[in-house]
Parts: sequence; C-alpha cells; structure tokens
Amino acid sequence: MKALILSGGKGSRLYPLTYTNAKQLIPVANKPVLFRVIEAIHDAGIIDIGIIIGDDDNGKRVREAVGQGRRWQVNITYIVQEAPLGLAHCVSIAGDFLGDDRFVMFLGDNVIEGGISNLIRKFENSDTNSQIVLTPVSEPQHYGVAELNPDQSIKKLVEKPRDPRSNLALVGIYMFDPTIHEAVRAITPSWRGELEITDAIQWLVEQNYKVHPYIHRGWWIDTGKPIDMLAANAKVLEELTPRIEGFVDRDSQVDERVTIEAGAEIVNSVVRGPTIIGENTRIVNSYVGPFTSIYHDCQIENAEIEYSLILEHSTISNVHTRITDSLIGRNVKVAHSELKPQAIKLTLGDNSQLGLI
Ligand code: TTP
Repeated sequence: MKALILSGGKGSRLYPLTYTNAKQLIPVANKPVLFRVIEAIHDAGIIDIGIIIGDDDNGKRVREAVGQGRRWQVNITYIVQEAPLGLAHCVSIAGDFLGDDRFVMFLGDNVIEGGISNLIRKFENSDTNSQIVLTPVSEPQHYGVAELNPDQSIKKLVEKPRDPRSNLALVGIYMFDPTIHEAVRAITPSWRGELEITDAIQWLVEQNYKVHPYIHRGWWIDTGKPIDMLAANAKVLEELTPRIEGFVDRDSQVDERVTIEAGAEIVNSVVRGPTIIGENTRIVNSYVGPFTSIYHDCQIENAEIEYSLILEHSTISNVHTRITDSLIGRNVKVAHSELKPQAIKLTLGDNSQLGLI
C-alpha cells in the first residue's frame, strides 16, 4: 500500500494565517496537522508517501518542513499541483507515483480519532475496489454526502447537496485500488471547476465496482475554518499524555492535564488543562485556561487566555480582557498601551477577524 496526502489547496477560509503558511502546517496541540497525518500513516505500516503540494510558497514551506521524511522513517515523494483543481485531479497527477498499487488518500488538514490502522488493515486484505469513511454530521449540506441502501451498500454520493438525503458525510480518508484511475479519467469538472473525488467514487458505484462504506463513530475534524482548528486542538489536547519538562515556580498552580515543554517557564500563574505550553515560552502573572495551545518562544504576561491557539514568537501582555476562542498567528503582539489617545490600535492582515466587546 502507498499513501497520498493532499497538502495543496488555497486555505482561503483560514486567511490571513494561510497567506504566509500552509494550513496543513498550523500546529494543533503544538504539532502541525500534516505531521499528525504522516504519523497516522506510518503507524498503519505504510512508508511510501506522496504529498501533493501547490506550485507556490506554501508548497515550498511544506517541502522544507517535512523533507524526505527521515524523521518518521518514511519515503516522501512530492507532486506539484499547478492549481487546486480538485481532489480527483490530485489522483490523476499522482499516477506515476501510485502505479498499480492500492493506496490511501488522506486530506492533509484532517484529524481523526484513533488513527487509520484498522481501516487500512480492513481494506488491504479485502477484494473491495474502494473503501470510503463516513460519519454522521449535523450539517451534511457542507460535505460530500452518502445515501445508503437498506443493505448498507452505497446508493449515491453527492458533493455538498442542497437537500441532503442522509447525515452521513465523507471523511477525508479514502482507500482505492487502480480502478480509481479509470474513474478519474471518466469524469468531468463540476460546476465549481474541480474534478470531484465524490464524482469519481460515484462512477465506481455506477460501474458496479465494490465500494465499501465504513462508518466511523469517533470524532473527526476537517480543520478548514478557525473554529474547526480550535475544536481539533481541544480534541487532541484531551488525548495528550501530560508531561512537565519546563519550570514551574512555587507561586504557580498547574493542573495535572498540562504539558509544559522543555525550556518553558510558568511564573506566578494559573494553568488549567488540557493545555500545552511550548518550548521556551514564558507565562508570567497570567491565567491560561483549558483547551489552549501556546507554541514555542511566546510570552504571556499579565493576561488571561483560554480555548485558544497561539503560534510561535507571539507576545500577549497587560491585556485586561480575557482572550478566548482565538487563533493567533506567528510574531503577533497584543499589548495594552498607556499612550494617548486611549483607543484600540490595530494592524490586522487582510481578511483578519476581530471580535470586540
Ligand atoms: P479544501 O479544504 O477543500 O480546500 P482548500 O484547502 O483550498 O481550502 P479553502 O476552501 O479554505 O480555500 O481542501 C481539502 C484538502 O485537500 C486540503 O488539505 C487541501 C487539499 N487540496 C489539494 O491538495 N488540492 C486541491 O486541488 C484541493 C481542492 C484541495
């Protein structure tokens, strides 16, 4: 088996963070989502991994961050996609890498509970042409949706239906044998100009190829929007085994579900878990509440923050309002200022979002 990770795309719902970084490299519980995907694939016993990247700076950033894959003992092959022309387009440009092998295709911005080892094992030794993963969701109109027959076989797959016939959404993990290449050649772009993987799988169903629907009962998060990033962060934090490698002074209270990475310092502060404080980050006279990840080399001083994600080299100081439900990028400074006029002074990137009280 091989694996194909999709790490191109625009990431427009995460602007402005994705102007300067690939969304797959944004850390969840202080580890990029893409690294979590590679680990899940490696744990399932697959070492030949193709990664689709964009023909842009974010593509270069993925290449730099992942390299040849030695850190995970896997072999990485990069496949450059000239534009985000759809998930099925990714399969078609990966033809040379995939050859006639069976493979798993994993969206590089998805996080799933429990990894994929069971799924791979089930598919690897079966005679099914494809295995898709479905999970019940509350707003199926935003997803690819599967309608099943009474015998649980697939009746129909529709991408983002206006009038969904079921609540079963397609999770971003798909398993295929080489018949998918025939399917991808047979379909045409959708109304949004993309070659849709849902259409290719629907083609397999119509040609009576065996497509097995696997119903996933745990959590699964597609980190497309800021709110999803925070939700994924919360779920992964809950699963972390806490460890204290940094320094906690005697005046601080640190909950038992807190991870403090090497070189971090907690001074006269309260930290409630599940939470992670990154390497060389300092928390001084502050409160860090549950479901917060603060990446490396940050400084939080005289501030309160919870249910948030803060990326590296950012500083929050002397802020008198509690910060919550926030996604803060790299090298950001949020500070109280005594300078007149006493007003909020902002330098926000394009497409930023700010919630004032
Ligand atoms: P999406 O989240 O559907 O698309 P996107 O990343 O462009 O985001 P947005 O809608 O916010 O602009 O993509 C799912 C995953 O697949 C993601 O990891 C990017 C990747 N992808 C590709 O690699 N190539 C493609 O052509 C597309 C559409 C997505």
